[in-house]
Formats: sequence, structure tokens, C-alpha cells
Amino acid sequence: MSSLGEVLYLPRQDIEKLNIPMKDVIRAVEKAFREKAEQRTEAPPKPGIHPRKDAFIHAMPAYIPKMRSAGVKWVSGFPENPKRGLPYISGLLILNNPETGLPICIMDCTWITAKRTGAATAIAAKHLARQDSKILGILGCGVQGRSNLEALIIMCKNLEKVKAYDINEENLQKYVKEMTAKHELKIIPVDLPRKAVENCDVVVTAGPILEHPQPIIETSWFKEGSLACPLDFDSYWKPEAMHSMDKFCTDDHDQLEYYKKLGYFSNIPDAYADLGEIVSGKKPGRENPKERIMCMNLGLAIEDMATAILIYEKAKKSGAGTSLSL
Ligand SMILES: NC(=O)c1ccc[n+]([C@@H]2O[C@H](COP(=O)([O-])OP(=O)(O)OC[C@H]3O[C@@H](n4cnc5c(N)ncnc54)[C@H](O)[C@@H]3O)[C@@H](O)[C@H]2O)c1
Repeated sequence: MSSLGEVLYLPRQDIEKLNIPMKDVIRAVEKAFREKAEQRTEAPPKPGIHPRKDAFIHAMPAYIPKMRSAGVKWVSGFPENPKRGLPYISGLLILNNPETGLPICIMDCTWITAKRTGAATAIAAKHLARQDSKILGILGCGVQGRSNLEALIIMCKNLEKVKAYDINEENLQKYVKEMTAKHELKIIPVDLPRKAVENCDVVVTAGPILEHPQPIIETSWFKEGSLACPLDFDSYWKPEAMHSMDKFCTDDHDQLEYYKKLGYFSNIPDAYADLGEIVSGKKPGRENPKERIMCMNLGLAIEDMATAILIYEKAKKSGAGTSLSL
């Protein structure tokens, strides 16, 4: 039987070399959320397998007709990997032709996962943070600590200072050095989680997701008028701190409910809105400068497919990657 055509293979280095700006990722992800709000996307909650303690491999399919993007991300998070010199997050994403279903591209998904998660935080900040936010707290100075900072600098024009905390001193110092060289902001290392929360206008927690969380962030640490963006589910924030929020948002109601059924989130508030509802104006975002708001994004496949199609189109134009026969 003759070949069914070609599939483009894009390893991580080829994707990085495309230099797609974060602002383009933010624009694409926001568009995907608007499509989602109009119920014009398909993205069932992600099923997963769990081969090791606190580890996961998730299947994340999505289709965004307006972007002609259909595919699936198969992504893993293994907390023991950094000790082996391997990344915590790794995986592949397959894009399919929405007309025929045939695969058109197989790409590494590390870059996508880093960038689209930062982009989703920035979109949350656009609608839920105070416009005059100046101080950002980052807890967990790894891949997400970097990409979330990159995205928030674009969205929060008045940012002046970052207070950074990491449980690992070496990671913290590396982060401070790299981020100081890269961005025109004061990056201040702090020695206690509390110091990266207190007096901050936006707080991002990006430590590990734990099956049995032992959260430490208390209600009193989080000041009036601030925005909290936990990427590590409920691992860092105490239940009472989450319940004290004026608004608790998420990226997708269905996915949050699905996770609850799996046994996660035994004690979190009901979600006021998801990002699609907020981005599309169906529900108001921040309504006054005093509100304390949390947006717990769990990560959505529409964010991946919105970014993957940007990568594929740019790679095709520039001749990047390797063609493989189907
Ligand atoms: N919600 C989403 O859409 C989404 C997407 C991707 C990743 N994540 C989550 O974000 C988190 C970070 O991922 P990453 O790729 O940046 O991982 P990473 O391994 O690159 O970085 C994690 C950092 O956290 C530090 N750390 C560990 N325990 C800590 C603690 N108690 N306090 C402060 N720092 C601590 C580590 O030393 C490391 O520097 C993970 O929980 C991951 O599952 C969420």
C-alpha cells in the first residue's frame, strides 16, 4: 500500500529555534478561551495514568474549529526526574488534519506546556489582577516560574519587583541570576515562602503537585486586592486561605469537577467562573481594587492546540523539522 503522506516531526530544539514570541502565545490562548466560552471547542477532561507516586501521564485532546487545530498532548510529570537530570514535564503532541483525521505533525510538548501555562496566567491577570500590580511573588523557580514571569511582564505593565522563593537554594540562585539578566526587574530571593506572598500583588505557586498536600500559605499572608495563581493545584494554599477569597476562578468548570470525582480537591471553594466566561465578558472579572481573587488553572488542551498550530504553521513556512512517511 502506498504512503498516506507525510508527518512533520518537530523536536524540542527545532521548536525553540522558531522563537515564537510569548505575546503571540497569549493572543492565541485568549482566542481559544473566547471560542470555548461560545461552546465552539471540544476538550474532554484529561484522563491519566499514574505509574509512580505523585507522577502522572495525561492524555489531553482538543479541537478548535476556528483555528483548524485538532490533536492530543500526551504529557508526563515525574517529580523524581530532576534528580536524574531529566525534566519534570515531558511529552509529545500530535496534530491531526481536521478534514481527514490523518496526523500532520508530531512535536515535543515541553516548550508548549511552559509557554501556554504562562500565557493562561497572564490572561487571568489581565482580567483579575489590579492594573497597578507592582510586586510579583513566585514560589517554585523552575520552568513555570520562568515562563509565568515572562508572560506576566507582558500583561502587568507596572511590575517592578519579583520576590522569588524555592525550596532548593541552588535553583533559587540560578533563577535570580538568569531572570535578572533577562528582564529589567528587581528579582529578590527570599528565604521563606511567607516572604514571597506577603505584600505581593500577584502570587504564582509552581511547586510540585502532591497527592497528599501539606499546604502552608495562610489567609493572613495574602493582602487585600491581590491575585493568586496556583499552578500546583491545592498543594501550597491552606483550605481556609482559598475559602477566604472573594472570587475563586478556574480555567474550566468541567475539568475541576472531573478532578474532584477522582479524589482531588477535597476542600476548595465553588468556582465563581471559568476563564472562558471571564475573557468573553459573560461574568465580570475584578470588580474593585479590594477583591482577593484566586484563579486555579489546571491546564487545558485548548491552550496546547492553540499554541501547537502556531508552531506547526511557522515550522512549515520556515522549513523546520523532519518529514516522516506515514
Ligand atoms: N496548571 C497547569 O496548567 C500546569 C502546567 C504545567 C505545570 N504545572 C505544574 O507546575 C508546577 C511546576 O512545574 P515546573 O515544570 O515548573 O517544574 P520544575 O521542576 O521545573 O520546577 C519546580 C521547582 O519547584 C521547586 N520546589 C519544589 N518544592 C517546592 C516547595 N515546597 N516550595 C517552593 N519550591 C519548591 C523545585 O526546587 C523546582 O525549582 C508543577 O506542579 C506542575 O505540575 C501546572
